[in-house]
Amino acid sequence: MTVHIGAKPGDIAETVLMPGDPYRAKWAAETFLEDAQLVNEVRGMLGFTGTWRGHRVTIQGSGMGMPSLSIYANELMAEYGAQTLVRIGSCGGMQPHVGIRDVIIAMTASTITSPSSGILRELNFAPCADWTLLRAAVDAAEARGTKTHVGGIYSSDVFYAERPDLDEQMVRHGILGVEMEAAELYTLAARHKRRALAVLTVSDHLQTGEALPADQRERSFGDMVEIALEAAFA
Ligand code: HPA
Repeated sequence: MTVHIGAKPGDIAETVLMPGDPYRAKWAAETFLEDAQLVNEVRGMLGFTGTWRGHRVTIQGSGMGMPSLSIYANELMAEYGAQTLVRIGSCGGMQPHVGIRDVIIAMTASTITSPSSGILRELNFAPCADWTLLRAAVDAAEARGTKTHVGGIYSSDVFYAERPDLDEQMVRHGILGVEMEAAELYTLAARHKRRALAVLTVSDHLQTGEALPADQRERSFGDMVEIALEAAFA
């Protein structure tokens, strides 16, 4: 048990998928894992461990935003020995060629500030994905025929942003999408020498205002979960 995770030592697998939403963790565990057992429910941040094609996997909610993810990712790596952490979640599309339901595999995650900013201080650290996971995820996405984009994303501290000038610079510099967790996950993985990746589904679009209807989310999110699992065990 750690401060925020009630799982017993050994209850957490070396490979952990991290959706922001604890109910998406439940859905993904029930849909994709065999013998999924609830291993954490502290603060309702559900975590499940089961097997996928014979491999042990934990799917643990991270909550929304980098401070919340930082708590879970730190405890998973430092206390439970998690080696491979793959964020699965939604993001807002930022380029005209990025469509709703497309998958984004985040090579890098830019940020203005993160919980690690206090440690990094003046260093403009470039949080990047683990190369082996990135390559395997791209292969898995291509094999499935999922429309996929690979490149830089932006991890924001605010969902309700009020900086159109900043969005403009990000679009200009090729940022594919915006979410709220990956930069800190990549930074923590670098610090702990673990593997991390973010595989995201575009749920809304900042320029067009389009959004994925609730009833269509499941199928598109399923592609992302399977890409994440295939990458983790490639
Ligand atoms: N902003 C931040 N995070 C998000 C968004 C967004 O527009 N869409 C999905 N996650």
